[in-house]
Amino acid sequence: MLPKIFIIGLIHLLTVLAKDASIEEEEYEARNFLAVLNKQTEKDNNRLTKANWAYASNLTENNLKNQLAIAAEVAKNEKEAWQRVGQYNWKSFSDPSLRRHFQKYSVLGTSALPEEKFKQLNKIISDMEAIYSKAKICPRGKKETDGEECKLGLEPELTNILAKSRDSEELKHVWVEWRNAVGPKCRSLYEQYVNLSNEAARLNNFSDTSQYWLDDYEDPDFKNQIQSLWEQLNPLYLQIHAYVRFKLREKYGDIVTEKGPIPMHLLGNMWGQSWHNIGDFMLPYPDVVDNDLTEELRKQNYTATKIFRTAEEFFKSINLSEMPDTFWQRSILEKPADREIVCHASAWDFYDQKDFRIKQCTEVTGEHFITAHHEMGHIEYFIQYKDQPVKFREGANDGFHEAIGDLIALSVESTKHLRKLGLVHNEKDDPKQVLNHLFKLGLSKITFLPFGYLMDLWRWDVFSGKTKPDDYNCKWWELREKYQGVEPPVDRSEEDFDPAGKYHIIADVPYLRYFISFVIQFQFHRSLCEKAGQYEPNNLEKPLHECDIYQNQVAGNTLKQMLAMGSSKPWPQAMEVITGQRRMDASGILEYFKPLQTWLEQENKKNNAHVGWEPSKKVCVRTRQELNEAQKNNTTAFSQT
Ligand SMILES: *[C@@H]1O[C@H](CO)[C@@H](O)[C@H](O)[C@H]1NC(C)=O
Ligand SMILES: *[C@@H]1O[C@H](CO)[C@@H](O)[C@H](O)[C@H]1NC(C)=O
Ligand SMILES: *[C@@H]1O[C@H](CO)[C@@H](O)[C@H](O)[C@H]1NC(C)=O
Ligand SMILES: *[C@@H]1O[C@H](CO)[C@@H](O)[C@H](O)[C@H]1NC(C)=O
Ligand SMILES: *[C@@H]1O[C@H](CO)[C@@H](O)[C@H](O)[C@H]1NC(C)=O
Ligand SMILES: *[C@@H]1O[C@H](CO)[C@@H](O)[C@H](O)[C@H]1NC(C)=O
Ligand SMILES: *[C@@H]1O[C@H](CO)[C@@H](O)[C@H](O)[C@H]1NC(C)=O
Ligand SMILES: [Zn+2]
Repeated sequence: MLPKIFIIGLIHLLTVLAKDASIEEEEYEARNFLAVLNKQTEKDNNRLTKANWAYASNLTENNLKNQLAIAAEVAKNEKEAWQRVGQYNWKSFSDPSLRRHFQKYSVLGTSALPEEKFKQLNKIISDMEAIYSKAKICPRGKKETDGEECKLGLEPELTNILAKSRDSEELKHVWVEWRNAVGPKCRSLYEQYVNLSNEAARLNNFSDTSQYWLDDYEDPDFKNQIQSLWEQLNPLYLQIHAYVRFKLREKYGDIVTEKGPIPMHLLGNMWGQSWHNIGDFMLPYPDVVDNDLTEELRKQNYTATKIFRTAEEFFKSINLSEMPDTFWQRSILEKPADREIVCHASAWDFYDQKDFRIKQCTEVTGEHFITAHHEMGHIEYFIQYKDQPVKFREGANDGFHEAIGDLIALSVESTKHLRKLGLVHNEKDDPKQVLNHLFKLGLSKITFLPFGYLMDLWRWDVFSGKTKPDDYNCKWWELREKYQGVEPPVDRSEEDFDPAGKYHIIADVPYLRYFISFVIQFQFHRSLCEKAGQYEPNNLEKPLHECDIYQNQVAGNTLKQMLAMGSSKPWPQAMEVITGQRRMDASGILEYFKPLQTWLEQENKKNNAHVGWEPSKKVCVRTRQELNEAQKNNTTAFSQT
């Protein structure tokens, strides 16, 4: 007689065996299914990307119609595939990689919408992009009726005025008119966009789009991690903010208050997101000869192509890939004169493993020189992971994708490297010059952090419904003030819609990725520099900000290994390949800017510069009429309008 327990054991064993066999069979079949589906996805993505490119590089009605039609067809295929995926018992598969592949297919995105609504959503986004890309304003003192002259677009005209003009009235004009040209036209479209986008998210079983966006990070605690990174970085931001406000006040006088938020039209950038364009008149050591990258590039006859060839040479030097011939043939590296295009720089993967392109209205400036590296970083990622299944041809998370080109640019921008390129002439680094350089870099990197964070803080609440349409604009300004300590040059109302003045908002592109990128690019840089023997903690001879990984293939191969993984593994695993760490870590960027932080703290003390800010005197109300009335009541408070 068999003990009872044994019988139960035997039955159990049999079922386990049977189950194993059937799962094995099911997984085998599932793999074949995905292999076929992968081919289909590859083909669909290729078609769709071609249509997207055709429209973005030639904004005609016809190209839009074509793009929308193809998007709808592809969405239909995706939905069918998704339904078939749902029939698999994939959550119980034993192979984690297979499970992950299915999991990627199990989230459908906006294709979950019924066809009509899907088309509507895409049309709304394209319409907003067209409004943004075609918007034109008049120069100061001109009116619409002056015709010819009212042709200033964002790129390059307005961007250049913001960067170079030091006339606060002209800056204010451009700042206000750009928002007048885009904001009100986009407001009602944006409200519809929010509704449809949320509807799609709910069809994917997310509560709203914010949850859908955050799902990408595969970590329910992600928002808190970002919050705590920001808290670590805030003290550094406060120092540079205090210093810049002090210097702006010296230059512009009382329109910059001693303790209030900074009027953002004076910051050298349409969105006050990055302040490097005003570095020239506030350098820590103004008497030390400043190396102006833009000037140097122009003197040496750089062209758009030469800028991109220079970037390519760096990638090749660390054993990453050269650009294929078709890249040079098909990319748009200069703004065409014969048609309207989306000038916002972007990198494109056509999902056929060989067609990769960049679209950038390149100007020969230091800023575009760096942007070229940024975009080419995306292309390197595309190339390295091209042999992954389509669903894994993504960054480990979207912040990784944004970080690669910037990470390379950190080496490129070092004076050590610029000297190798002949773009810096002095033989040796003067410590004062190094600090000037670090300050200029701080003006683009440190100042960006709160902006990179608040863009989606605003959208998360918009999508979740916590921020109502009636409060869209004023909430936007509340966050701008709270995190960045900036204010608009004139009072605002809910008849304005200032978030729409920023591309990623109207183009449906999440933004948290840039905040992540600005943190992890320094974390990666530190690790690769250690591998390259160019950085040692606490060794003053080898500070992080002077590291250049040019020609270092040990560093390059490590990076390559990570890039090739795409999104086939959760991002902490990809991060581990480069850094040995599984968490995002602000200490990289803090270490990089340590000498600057020390200097800023001393300088702010010396100047008795206020650190932090008091509430803005600018107001944001419901209607413009309210503003007019208030203006009549009290002309002094609004005398700057
Ligand atoms: C732009 O698209 C239109 C079709 O809408 C086409 O006729 C025209 O040739 C395109 N222009 C360029 C430069 O490709
Ligand atoms: C969005 O949805 C809300 C709630 O269903 C509705 O009240 C509102 O009118 C919609 N807005 C637009 C612009 O469709
Ligand atoms: C969402 O949840 C419902 C109910 O639990 C389920 O029937 C449906 O299949 C789910 N949809 C997705 C996309 O997971
Ligand atoms: C740049 O072009 C100018 C005019 O064609 C020429 O005189 C100069 O030598 C060039 N400079 C370099 C560095 O090639
Ligand atoms: C460059 O990368 C390839 C793999 O893509 C590798 O086989 C080769 O060894 C690397 N070269 C060097 C010098 O590290
Ligand atoms: C302006 O003054 C009038 C009369 O004193 C008052 O009723 C009104 O509320 C004020 N408006 C604003 C916007 O302060
Ligand atoms: C107008 O506003 C300024 C600044 O807010 C304030 O100091 C002043 O007292 C106000 N004047 C009147 C008449 O309300
Ligand atoms: Zn990018």
